[in-house]
Amino acid sequence: EMSDDQIDQDQKELFLSQLTKTKGWLGSSGLSFYQGFWCPSKIVPNIISFQNHFKSHDQDIILASKPKSGTTWLKALLFSIVNRASTSISNTPLLRSNPHELVPFFEFTLYANNNKIPDLSNIPFPRLFSTHIPYDSLSKSIKESKCRILYICRNPLDTIVSHWHFANQADHLNLISKWTLEEFVDVYCKGEEVFGPFWDHILGYWKQGLEHPRKVMFFKYEDLKKDTKTQVRKLAEFVGYPFSMEEESLGIVDEILKLCSFKNLKDLDVNKHGKFMPYFENKSYFRKGEVGDWVNHLSPTVADQVEKLIHEKFSSSGLTL
Ligand code: A3P
Repeated sequence: EMSDDQIDQDQKELFLSQLTKTKGWLGSSGLSFYQGFWCPSKIVPNIISFQNHFKSHDQDIILASKPKSGTTWLKALLFSIVNRASTSISNTPLLRSNPHELVPFFEFTLYANNNKIPDLSNIPFPRLFSTHIPYDSLSKSIKESKCRILYICRNPLDTIVSHWHFANQADHLNLISKWTLEEFVDVYCKGEEVFGPFWDHILGYWKQGLEHPRKVMFFKYEDLKKDTKTQVRKLAEFVGYPFSMEEESLGIVDEILKLCSFKNLKDLDVNKHGKFMPYFENKSYFRKGEVGDWVNHLSPTVADQVEKLIHEKFSSSGLTL
């Protein structure tokens, strides 16, 4: 006779096996189409567990993004802003831990433990979390609580180039199909990429930001590069930790910018030699850190194809990428 657990397990496996699949570059199990987006098949159970169990508090701060949009950088900034009263810059955990360790992903880290529901009750408030899951598929309690969501997006051409380099850095390369950049662009434009289609992902959060500006704040990697200080002040205010006049005059903002700068983070021992995420060494999260690097990798024809798609998908939204 089968136990209830076994029946649940069988039902789950049947459900997962029935999802539409595509090859994808990450892992032998490829991508599954779940609730309108593509995600690594292996993490669908994590997402379901998160959706069923995560209880959000009003003070939570959740950083959402598509991969390769500047998530790591924004995590470092957010962590520094929120914890600046309790830890000095000279002793911040960021010097010893990769930002992904300090602002963990729901789907890759917290709910990745074989469906064991994590105990999040010991995390001090405000709790900092992150996710690549599209807005519509976030847990209900995130939408209902007063928690805040930061979203960062990036020009798709740079994101594609960044993602392609990242994919080629994965260990367990035997599990991963190596794609040319052109093939990579192709699946991207079909929407068959991790957490894609990118237009649905970005527009989903964009619309929430317009409708609920106190709940969702939208950032662009390019703005962050161009005027980091203004963006960081805006971020601090939004999450309820604005910089005081005194802090401004003491240069605290500049200290945080310096700490979280590409070069500084990249050169830390932990980010040169450590590994926190599955498949990827910490150093994979720091490549070049520039705007417009795509011109060095994509032919004008290929870039044109992507730009047409961007125009088609975003022109009526008011969002320029
Ligand atoms: P490139 O591959 O173009 O260099 P994510 O953090 O979402 O995975 O995105 C990674 C991208 O952000 C990479 O882009 C990486 O180099 C860049 N990046 C990481 N840390 C950064 C920082 N402190 N400042 C600017 N860019 C950073």
